[in-house]
Amino acid sequence: MSRVEPVVSVLLDPARAATSLVDDVRRGLGAHPRRLPPKWLYDDEGSRLFDEITRLPEYYPTRTERAILTAYADDIVGACDATTVVELGSGTSEKTRLLLDAFARSGRLQRFVPVDVSEGTLREAATALADRYPGLAVEAVVGDFTLHLGRLPRRGRRLIAFLGSTIGNLYLEERRAFLGALGDSLDSGEWLLLGVDLVKDADRLVAAYDDAAGVTEEFVRNAVRVLNRELDADFDADGFSYAPLWDARMERMDLRLRAEMPQRVRIPGADLELDLHVGEELRIEISTKFRLDRIGAELDDAGLAVARTWTDPDDDFAIILARRR
Ligand code: SAH
Ligand code: TRP
Repeated sequence: MSRVEPVVSVLLDPARAATSLVDDVRRGLGAHPRRLPPKWLYDDEGSRLFDEITRLPEYYPTRTERAILTAYADDIVGACDATTVVELGSGTSEKTRLLLDAFARSGRLQRFVPVDVSEGTLREAATALADRYPGLAVEAVVGDFTLHLGRLPRRGRRLIAFLGSTIGNLYLEERRAFLGALGDSLDSGEWLLLGVDLVKDADRLVAAYDDAAGVTEEFVRNAVRVLNRELDADFDADGFSYAPLWDARMERMDLRLRAEMPQRVRIPGADLELDLHVGEELRIEISTKFRLDRIGAELDDAGLAVARTWTDPDDDFAIILARRR
């Protein structure tokens, strides 16, 4: 089979992304408590730092999810009848290759649609995947999975893969809206493959998001550097300390930056000025941890019936296969 040139569609062009960043910054940083939507963490530098996070000794989720896929990718493929894999927040699609390999072995895979806001990372991944899987149509989409689910390619019977527990980075109300939209966007009989990090010992969770090498801290701090670059803001990135905490009530890691000295920040690109007092926090990202019964009920509310669940021997991480009713 011959190599098929990848196609890249852009739903989120740079001008639109800039407007959306300005809106998000005004809404999020202008409010109290101040927060920033996490998709802005993934500029080129953010994507590079994330890649480094996935290899840290303390950061167990990536290697655990990879182990589950290594052990069960053929079972996953056997349990569904999809011919098209759509991957949301695909990044490098590194782990996804295990799934695509299994689909390729089954002879059933026709199309792969990686979707990401990070255009550079996505284009590189699309090229590498087209090289690796001759005959596979790679139709990459530069898009936002909170906005563009209804505009993704509909051909074939689809399996939407959403790995890496990226769903945990949405706030509760965002997650509900996302799952509702996801259910609406699927035809009856289509599939969702969802990777979720499970609730566990707080010490291990805190260690995973507060690594000794300080890479996660740099990744979170990059959020304000993005605003300096994109909106000409003058945040003193080093004037913040990194404050990752386990919120036991919400069962999520809450990753914040705390102003260590008073800062007056000008953000000309968003026509915004902030006065931050000492100790004031910017909420950069959450990472929710899940329980299988509860996420199963949330999926069910969205019209997605859980079909199978695979976990590692320690029950650290789970991959859930659900089907649109
Ligand atoms: N799936 C990969 C990467 C996870 S990191 C893994 O499991 O390792 C999260 C990815 O989602 C990044 O590549 C980031 O650019 C992307 N992303 C974050 N918010 C997004 C959004 N709203 N829409 C599309 N992609 C998004
Ligand atoms: N979704 C993964 C998680 O929640 C990866 C991730 C997203 C992450 N944002 C992060 C990891 C911030 C560390 C810090 O773990």
